[in-house]
Amino acid sequence: MRSTDIIVIGAGAAGLMCAMTAAARGRRVLLIDHANKPGKKILMSGGGRCNFTNLYTEPSNFLSQNPHFCKSALARYTQWDFIELVSKHAVPYHEKKLGQLFCDNKSSDILGLLLSECEQTGVELRMDTSVQQIDKTEGGYQLQTSLGTLACASLVVATGGLSIPTLGATGFGYQIARQFGHSVLPTRAGLVPFTITDQLKELCGELSGTSVDALVSCNDSSFRENILFTHRGLSGPAILQISSFWQPGDSVEINLLPDHDALGWLQQQQSERPNSELKTLLGEVFTKKMANLLAEQWFVSKPMKQYTPGELAAVAEQLGNWTLVPAGTEGYRTAEVTLGGVDTREVSSKTMESLKSPGLYFVGEVLDVSGHLGGFNFQWAWASGYAAAQFA
Ligand code: FDA
Repeated sequence: MRSTDIIVIGAGAAGLMCAMTAAARGRRVLLIDHANKPGKKILMSGGGRCNFTNLYTEPSNFLSQNPHFCKSALARYTQWDFIELVSKHAVPYHEKKLGQLFCDNKSSDILGLLLSECEQTGVELRMDTSVQQIDKTEGGYQLQTSLGTLACASLVVATGGLSIPTLGATGFGYQIARQFGHSVLPTRAGLVPFTITDQLKELCGELSGTSVDALVSCNDSSFRENILFTHRGLSGPAILQISSFWQPGDSVEINLLPDHDALGWLQQQQSERPNSELKTLLGEVFTKKMANLLAEQWFVSKPMKQYTPGELAAVAEQLGNWTLVPAGTEGYRTAEVTLGGVDTREVSSKTMESLKSPGLYFVGEVLDVSGHLGGFNFQWAWASGYAAAQFA
């Protein structure tokens, strides 16, 4: 039987950060993962350029049933700490927008720096390793694995959430949590496109590929960014953001004229350009195709002077407060995160250690902490992995 100080299960963002930081403290760390390669989500992230953190990271960028939980770890390993690491490895990066930092080149730059830190600090990384059984022992934990029996003083669960099973996601972390007496809060897909099945599907399909700036709201939360029409429904950053606040059956409001008071704008157009057709005006705000389709499917397009005040108010309502009920989401197949997870009320916010089973730690997405879109989820992975590494 092999024995070591720490076993980390899951060589994703949180597991790699935890392993390299603990090893830098002089701990003997074995990092295992059932996938054939580490950090697959890092490689896929940010459209291949990894949005590795956000300049404006705040606890308010995270969703959790226990909103205070993330504060301590985020304060002890900040976006500036990760930026320093990125700079130490001379990885070129840039701010795309809204504080979102992306690699200039490829996501593999981020994975490369984490693997290089792991190598330098002496982390032993074993891929293609599955865990069959975990038992608590006097000195820590004993694991039955495809590498044989392994023992450790501290066991770190960094197995992530359920999003994108083809990238290695499993519910194993939740299973471990339950085994050691933890509650797992219901999970659902977050940062995920909406599917539409009613008559709107046709409109979405015809506009597929069209992106438009909008203010999207649901359940008292709003995001102003682009929405993207797709063959199956709606996507784009504003939709992904709001999807994390949406529950089946909820309606979503979309303001397609976020820079204007819709009715005021239409009234102004009516008085200044009475002979212009509605679709011509809309064509100045949206693409021609979108203007024509909206004019055909939503309104009767005619010269502005022909609209009664009631008709104009109806057009304003439709454009400024388009209300729809998504049929569902694309689910874990494409979701960027999993909402819910290990209940943080049973985990120390300082150490990430289980309050139920000493020596057991949870880091990253397996916990009930999910960030907004924009680099926040990686920042949580770095911060929580770092926090656990100080104590494991
Ligand atoms: P992560 O999922 O990264 O790692 C878990 C690891 O555990 C995996 O390597 C997996 O193989 C392993 N594992 C699972 N089950 C196991 C088992 N039974 N046995 C052994 N090993 C097991 N965030 C962000 O901030 N900026 C971005 O640009 C993006 N972009 C993005 C794109 C896409 C397509 C996705 C799916 C997600 C993002 N994200 C993101 C979210 C981000 O990738 C995510 O929040 C972090 O990767 C979570 O890190 P973890 O280490 O917790 O889990």
